[in-house]
Amino acid sequence: MPEDGSNLIAMHAANSPNAFDLRRVGAHPDHWYPMAWCDELKPGKALARAFAGQPIALFRGKGGKVFALEDRCAHRQVPLHLGVVDGDEVKCHYHGWAYDQTGKCVDVPYLGKERLPNGVKSYPAREIDGLIFVFPGDPALAEERLPTGLGHSQDKAYKTRRLNRHVACHYTFMHENLFDMNHQFMHRKQMGSIKAKCIGRTHGEDWAEVEYTFSRTSGKPSVGEQVIVDLVRKRGEKKADFSDHMRIRTDYPNQSLRVWVGRDIKESDAPVLDVWLGYTPLDAEQRTNRTYGYLSVKRPPVPGLIDAMWPFVTWFTENIFREDQEIVEYEQQAYDAQGADWNNEVFPAIRDLRAVLARCGLPMDGEPVAPSRTFAAE
Ligand code: FES
Ligand SMILES: [Fe+2]
Repeated sequence: MPEDGSNLIAMHAANSPNAFDLRRVGAHPDHWYPMAWCDELKPGKALARAFAGQPIALFRGKGGKVFALEDRCAHRQVPLHLGVVDGDEVKCHYHGWAYDQTGKCVDVPYLGKERLPNGVKSYPAREIDGLIFVFPGDPALAEERLPTGLGHSQDKAYKTRRLNRHVACHYTFMHENLFDMNHQFMHRKQMGSIKAKCIGRTHGEDWAEVEYTFSRTSGKPSVGEQVIVDLVRKRGEKKADFSDHMRIRTDYPNQSLRVWVGRDIKESDAPVLDVWLGYTPLDAEQRTNRTYGYLSVKRPPVPGLIDAMWPFVTWFTENIFREDQEIVEYEQQAYDAQGADWNNEVFPAIRDLRAVLARCGLPMDGEPVAPSRTFAAE
């Protein structure tokens, strides 16, 4: 049996033409993952969630603070989310054992408090920009890795909608799908014939970035696309002068997509479109994920225009995301049928991205991977 993580990945890649099997690389637990919208969890209530097969219960104490515990009572292993929140403690539904926010057992009603058993695991939990994040890994690393903000989702100069989908695929397919704008062909019903031109790519140890500009090769934009273009086009700018610049970035483990429009774009310019996405693996094999995100569109100067157009924006983006969801789920089904990663990746930007995801992740059957382990692009 190979001993280190890189050997394990090599082993799983033996049946695949790729240097490593990316679908055997788990999302690294030493990061913050979104688990619920803040307003889904009312004071005194609980939610059942999961990270890669670990059941996690989220609670909001009566005082409003969110805490996360292993969703298994230390007594008879039943889910703690069925329990009763009492102040900032939770009482298990079955025999009423009580746990505090750190998972310590603080009461066994029929024994008294003298000889209390061990409690349950707790996880760092934090509310950031309307989402509840949990840190499933080493709690000592949690504070330094807190996300600083989720795009422009809290900026009043933007109108923002939530993205929230249960997707039946490994999280790495999500990263690849967003990063690779060469799949505009699939969105032809929504956008007609659009051609993406890659105008740059760059990457580091735990991030990768790719930039595109788009041109129409034939046909007309759909109503939804035209509405978005009209909303974001600079005032006075002629249609013929319209130019866009898209930057997609994976900052492990999250992703962003930003668009700037017009000529002479400066680095300091605010994007007209800003999408933030986080992918939380659900099952132990990580063949499903919950995608949480925000899509923010910069408000044009005409008051109320964006609100009037918003149903079209919603309809258009939902159609696009539905097409993306269908195709990544087909990719997962092909992986499951073949038992290995047979993808034949030819686009250098995606090869950069795959290397980042392999380097930053954790082999699913393996020992923890040494930070010095390096994966070059395939
Ligand atoms: S199973 Fe939870 S208190 Fe008994
Ligand atoms: Fe897409």
